[in-house]
Amino acid sequence: MMQEQHFFDFAAEAGLTKHFGSVESTDKMAELCHIDPTSYVLDVGCGVGATPCYLAKKYGCRVLGVDILPKMVERSKERGVKMRLLESVEFQVADAQDLPFEDGRFDVVITESVTSFPKDKQQAVNEYTRVIKPGGFVGLIESTWLKVPPPQELVEWVRQDVGATVEPLTVEGWKDLLVKAGLQDIVVILMNIDVKAESRGILKRYGIGGMLSIVTRAFQLYLRNPNYRQFVKEVNQGGLVPEDFNAYFGYGIFVGRKDS
Ligand SMILES: C[S@@+](CC[C@H](N)C(=O)[O-])C[C@H]1O[C@@H](n2cnc3c(N)ncnc32)[C@H](O)[C@@H]1O
Repeated sequence: MMQEQHFFDFAAEAGLTKHFGSVESTDKMAELCHIDPTSYVLDVGCGVGATPCYLAKKYGCRVLGVDILPKMVERSKERGVKMRLLESVEFQVADAQDLPFEDGRFDVVITESVTSFPKDKQQAVNEYTRVIKPGGFVGLIESTWLKVPPPQELVEWVRQDVGATVEPLTVEGWKDLLVKAGLQDIVVILMNIDVKAESRGILKRYGIGGMLSIVTRAFQLYLRNPNYRQFVKEVNQGGLVPEDFNAYFGYGIFVGRKDS
C-alpha cells in the first residue's frame, strides 16, 4: 500500500501540488465565495502556496495558507517571497481538523483537493465553519463520485493512479458535511475531468519556468531517493484511464454560507 505521507512529501520536495480544474475552478469558487479586496481568506491544505499567491495577486485579498506538512509551508513561503506578496500572504502549519484560530476570524475558508484526505471530514468542515464570520463562506473543490456505486476496479484505479489514499464522497456526501456543519444556501457545480485540460492547467498555474524547476527537482529526487523510485513505479502500474472513468468520477465545487 502506498503511503500518503510519501506522496505529499515527494510533492513538496518537487514543489508541485494541484487540484482539479486548476485556476478556472479556483476562480469559480472565488466568485461563489464573494472574494474581493476586503476579504480575509484561509486556504486550508494550501500545498506549495500557488492558490494563496494567485488569489492575493488577482483579487487583492489577504490570504493565510495552512498545510499539515512543514515542507509545504516552506515551499509556500518561498513562493510568497518570490512573487513579492509578503504583505498579503502568510503561511503556517495546521491540521484541517484542528485549526489554531479563534472563532470568526476569516471571511472565507477554501480547500482545494484537501478535504478528501482527513480521517474525520465532518470535523474538518466544522472547523472551517467555526473560523468564518457570520455571513462568511466555505468553499470546497473536491473529487466526487458522480455515479454510485463505482466499480471496485475504478475505486482501486483512482487510489493507485493518484498515489495517495483519496476518499472521494458522493455529491450528497459532500453536501451533507456542509449542511451538518450549519452552512446554508449550498451551491454545487459538478464537473467531469478532462485529462488534457488538467495538464494545461498545471502549465498555466506554474508557468514554463516553474515547470522546469519542478521537473529538475523531481529528476534529482528520482536519482537520489529509492523510495521515490518505488513510488513512481507503483503509480505507473495503474495503466491508462479506464473507459468508464468519466461516468463515475469527477469533481465538485461546493459552497455554503454561514448564517448571519
Ligand atoms: C492534493 S494537495 C492540494 C494542495 C493545494 N490545495 C493545491 O491546490 O495545490 C493536498 C494538500 O493537502 C494537505 N493536507 C492533507 N491532509 C491535511 C490536513 N489534515 N490538514 C491540512 N492539510 C492537509 C497535503 O499536505 C497537501 O499539501
